Amino acid sequence: MKKLTPLQIAVHLGAWFPLAWLLWDYVNGNLSVNPIQDITQRTGKYALILLLVTLTVTPVNTWLGFRQVVRVRRPLGLYTFFYASLHFLTFIGLDYGFDWTLLPEAIFEKPFVLVGLAALTILLALAFTSFKYWQKRLGKNWKRLHRLVYLAGGLVIVHFAWAKKGNLLGLAGDILQPLLFGLVLVLLLAARLPVLRRRASALRSRLARPRRGPEPASRLDQNIVD
Ligand code: HEM
Repeated sequence: MKKLTPLQIAVHLGAWFPLAWLLWDYVNGNLSVNPIQDITQRTGKYALILLLVTLTVTPVNTWLGFRQVVRVRRPLGLYTFFYASLHFLTFIGLDYGFDWTLLPEAIFEKPFVLVGLAALTILLALAFTSFKYWQKRLGKNWKRLHRLVYLAGGLVIVHFAWAKKGNLLGLAGDILQPLLFGLVLVLLLAARLPVLRRRASALRSRLARPRRGPEPASRLDQNIVD
């Protein structure tokens, strides 16, 4: 078994921490009078935060040249899917008690839930095909498929704003948080634009170039002096 790097260990510990914290609050009665809503909101928020952290990997690699970070992209993506699944299971299990007579109405009659379902379906496809086997099998299409992560990000922001009973266009309701998360998503996507990436790498190589000190005397110079 390969030894984990400190960054990989930090990612695994960091990803389990929110679940441990949620369980702690549940066991110690620290949740609100509506614990199911608390669990739904917290698991949804953790999934979104992990999705944004996953999307930070590429800019950190291309802008800062910190290559090690690429190795934690897949685990971060899988943890995102894990929390999104917990969020979904809370909704269908704790909220609706797996009642298959009520669930179709709960899912298909609330547009914000349908948007969440679309995002979850994308995350499921990405998690399923994240293995080397699928990467080889799908070839170029693998990259195309995995670009859907941006769409999933956009859908989750819309789902979030809608869940808050806000209206992204009308600026109504409690939409400050979804807007802030949306802004982070836009910045992360902008960081991938080729024009910005080229500028960043030009700046990085300029900063990395060693400052020129006095040139060492060439052999010819030395001969003259001698
Ligand atoms: C079928 C899939 C999904 C269902 C049924 C669902 C259900 C819900 C529900 C019922 C709420 C409102 C909770 C409340 O305020 O009472 C909610 C909010 C939320 N969901 Fe989802 N969701 C789904 C997919 C997703 C996915 C894939 C993500 C993220 C990756 C996500 C992230 C969020 C966030 C961030 C919130 C707002 C939490 C807050 O108010 O702080 N959801 N979702």
